This record gives sequence, C-alpha cells and structure tokens, in this order.
Amino acid sequence: MIDYPALWQAVLDLPSHRTAHSVHGPDHWKRVERNALIIATDSGADVEIVRLFALFHDAQRVNEWGDPEHGARGAALAGLYRGKLFELSDESFEILHYACTWHTGGRHHENPTIATCWDADRLDLDRCGITPDPDYMSTNLAKKIAEHGSIDPWLNLVPTNLTP
Ligand SMILES: [Fe+2]
Ligand SMILES: [Fe+2]
Repeated sequence: MIDYPALWQAVLDLPSHRTAHSVHGPDHWKRVERNALIIATDSGADVEIVRLFALFHDAQRVNEWGDPEHGARGAALAGLYRGKLFELSDESFEILHYACTWHTGGRHHENPTIATCWDADRLDLDRCGITPDPDYMSTNLAKKIAEHGSIDPWLNLVPTNLTP
C-alpha cells in the first residue's frame, strides 16, 4: 500500500519554481487525480498508477510555459522514489513511466490506464482557458465529460474509501 500523503510531501519538499496555485502545480495535480479516479470507474484503469501519474507527471517542470522534457523528468523522479517511498511492480512501473514521459502532444492510447492518465490531465485544460476537446480523449467517459463541458455531474463517482 502506498503512503500517498508522505509521497506527496516528499515531492512538494523538492526545490521548484512553482507555488501551490501554479498552472501546472499541486492544485492541478489534485484535479488530475480526481479526474482520473472518476474516469477509472468506467475505463478500468489501475487506480494506483493513475494516482502516481497525477503526482509525478508535472512535478519536474522548470517553468509554466515550454519545457517539453518535463514528462520524462517526472518519470525519472518516479523511478528515483520507487523502492524507497513506494513500491510498484515492474509491469506497472513501465506503464507509469510511459504515461508520464509521453503525456503531452495530444496522443491517444489503447491501454486503459495510460488513456485515463492522459484524459484526466486534458480534462483540466479549462484552467488555461482551453476547452477540453472530446476528440483528444481516449476513454469513453472522458469524451462524454468533454462533450458536456464540465465534470461536475460526475463528481459523485470519486471514491470515498481511498487514503487521502
Ligand atoms: Fe505536463
Ligand atoms: Fe498536467
């Protein structure tokens, strides 16, 4: 079992340029986690992996605009903490690593866990004034949410029995 609060704290304690409210900062990570948990109820994604993705995918950004390598650095950070702050099988880590590395660029994916990670991130684009586009979603539920224009009607799907 992963101690998410301890893991989050370890990442938050790293030196960075951001504040909690940065566009790609912790507030965004939390919404990505929430979105992913909602999508996972339909997509069958691995909940442990999508929660780790939410934390790591933007954690190593060095600015809030460009930085095309940030996904790869986020994946590397996950690799650094694996075995020390959390455990994950080789197979699951490979999925997490891939999802973090390639999360930008509007790609689609058939793997339900990778698809859920990417859709969860893209559903939070409205924070930048960009309307999430159903065509950029890989999962059925994220498509439906993007078509609707707000995730609010699905918020009741967030599991309440998870560690914080
Ligand atoms: Fe990103
Ligand atoms: Fe993101």
